[in-house]
Amino acid sequence: MTEIGNGHRFEVFTLFPPLLNSFLGESILKKAIDRGLIAVNLHNIRDYAADRHRTCDATPYGGGGGMVLKPEPVYAAVEHVLGGDAGVQDGDVPVILLSPQGRLLTQEIVADLCSHRRLALICGRYEGFDERIRTGLATDEISIGDYVLNGGEVAAMVVIEAVSRLIPGVLGFDDSTRNDSHAAGMSGWLEGPHYTRPAEFRGQSIPPVLTSGHHVEVDRWRHEQSLLRTAARRPDLLVRHPPDAQDAAFLAEHGYDLPSLGIKARE
Ligand code: 6GU
Repeated sequence: MTEIGNGHRFEVFTLFPPLLNSFLGESILKKAIDRGLIAVNLHNIRDYAADRHRTCDATPYGGGGGMVLKPEPVYAAVEHVLGGDAGVQDGDVPVILLSPQGRLLTQEIVADLCSHRRLALICGRYEGFDERIRTGLATDEISIGDYVLNGGEVAAMVVIEAVSRLIPGVLGFDDSTRNDSHAAGMSGWLEGPHYTRPAEFRGQSIPPVLTSGHHVEVDRWRHEQSLLRTAARRPDLLVRHPPDAQDAAFLAEHGYDLPSLGIKARE
């Protein structure tokens, strides 16, 4: 177990702690850990297996293939770290099971998780885990997308990174989360294109407005590009985060039939 820092704490329960080490040992997360802004404590579920062979999996009742993660070592690990009946007594600490059956992670969920100073993340493995981990231990279940991974470790890293970058001080420039794609300050839309030097590259030049020096025009252009890109690529985001009447009119002018996309302008 690695204990560093005293800010936001992530308690990760996994059969493969080393999977997370290189990820936590580089770049922004390493700095956040070194500065005590976050602590990521890795707990090996196998250390909590009671038998001589430290067995963590077993064949499924009712037959069928594959192995199933046993409940005892997972309960023992989480209860040891969180104390008592985790998820019941210590209800303040979300106990999050990472599985493809969880609710899909969104930036809203990330922001909500960030409001908790301590999070427990359980990484499933093998072909599945005993249902009683879900029903008696976890208080939440999260998936990072509609595809299947070998285990929850990569998903835990996704949660740790997404939550950490919302913690004040973790990013060098405190404002740089604000305009990110999917962040609330961007109304939940995608960001438009970015350009840097050179102004012309292999026959592709940058939009002239960016060198016009008119900040109001630049802001308007960025806003419009954000809208157009979101409508083209992720119209579902405009259902969840509707444009105002002016933006809706702008999209209509550009050929988007909002009602047929299920998008209603905000009042
Ligand atoms: Cl959290 N776990 C696994 N095993 N697969 C996933 C996932 C999680 N999220 C998407 N696919």
